[in-house]
Amino acid sequence: MSTSFQLPEGFLWGASTAAHQIEGMNVNSDFWAHEHSGLLTQRFREVSGDTCDSYHRWPEDMDLLAGFGFTDYRFSIEWARVEPAPGEFSNAEIAHYRRMVEGAIERGLRPLLTLHHFTVPRWFDEQGGWESEEAVELFGRFVEAAAPIFASNVDHICTINEPNMVARFAPVRKAALVRSDWEQSGTAGSDEATTVALIKAHRRAVEVIRRLTPHVKVGWSVAIANYHVVPGGEAKAAEMASDSRDVFVLAADGDDWIGVQAYTRAFVGPAGQLPVPEGAQKTLTGWEYYPQALGESIRTVARLVPETPIIVTENGIAESDDTRRIAYTSGALKGLRDAMVDGIDVRGYYHWSALDNYEWGSFVPTFGLIAVDRKTFVRTPKPSAAWLGAAGQSRSIDLISHDVMSESIV
Ligand code: BGC
Repeated sequence: MSTSFQLPEGFLWGASTAAHQIEGMNVNSDFWAHEHSGLLTQRFREVSGDTCDSYHRWPEDMDLLAGFGFTDYRFSIEWARVEPAPGEFSNAEIAHYRRMVEGAIERGLRPLLTLHHFTVPRWFDEQGGWESEEAVELFGRFVEAAAPIFASNVDHICTINEPNMVARFAPVRKAALVRSDWEQSGTAGSDEATTVALIKAHRRAVEVIRRLTPHVKVGWSVAIANYHVVPGGEAKAAEMASDSRDVFVLAADGDDWIGVQAYTRAFVGPAGQLPVPEGAQKTLTGWEYYPQALGESIRTVARLVPETPIIVTENGIAESDDTRRIAYTSGALKGLRDAMVDGIDVRGYYHWSALDNYEWGSFVPTFGLIAVDRKTFVRTPKPSAAWLGAAGQSRSIDLISHDVMSESIV
């Protein structure tokens, strides 16, 4: 196979971000409250603070992305800002996000808007979050109120980002565990009540969007885990796949598209997820360096919902060596290209992430194409930004041989 990737006509080519991770001072959100409540302990001790100050600096971020050649930008709106108190909507914040939509279009970036990316208003969390009886109703009301933001010039909306992660981490909150302990505990079950509520909330949002803005193509983005089974782990892997992945993918049946988010793989034994094998190359999140994850994830989703077009809404690597980011992304894009050659309907690719940002408790895992100085907020693009962005204009990208690169990677 050749080592280039030709982007088909109309293929979406962008970078992704999320409001809480880049905006800064998201003081009315549940995550901000948890950052300051001691729920995040030892290893995840950093608070989000100003993060990248993108709430004010979004024009600069968009200028950079468009300048590198990207044609698309995925960002999220913050429910906690739009609805700071129950039923009290801020016209100014709605206007703020509307300006971002217009700003993106002016720069030649098509916005893909996420309505919920992990955080909720503090008041929503305090009244029981997704487990509250009113949750679905309240989310629907928020989506309806936010409709002026996407009334025009938005073609794609992601209702909820990684609902399976939200359901998976619901018990973490209850047990006040830290994310790292939870991930290594191997007991990655999903909270059932949260799962049911999120699927209903998604369906409600789809209904609202189709009624108010029928031009919008609506879907949601699921974290697609790649389970590699070790002998004896077959039943456990099947259970994990079913409860914390497939149920969310199948819920997308009938949507306009489904978002695939892929980073690595997980080995599963009889008791659950196993630690990353000794000697495996790791990234700054401690995950295995595994570019093949994207191709595998795309094929899993195509098998589950063959009629639903796929958009890769997140894929990337937490890495300080940008050469390795390019190698990883090349490997991932080869998997994407091969899946398309095999006839799978993939409509776009958004890299995670545009900026080095707040990785849910820590600034250490740097996923960005662009570095951000935490004090001055000066943006410094990395070579990967130019390499990846250029394909948006040239419609073609040279993929570095993953094998060759990995030899030089320690
Ligand atoms: C999330 C992002 C996160 C990224 C890397 C996804 O789970 O949607 O918010 O930063 O993966 O962990």
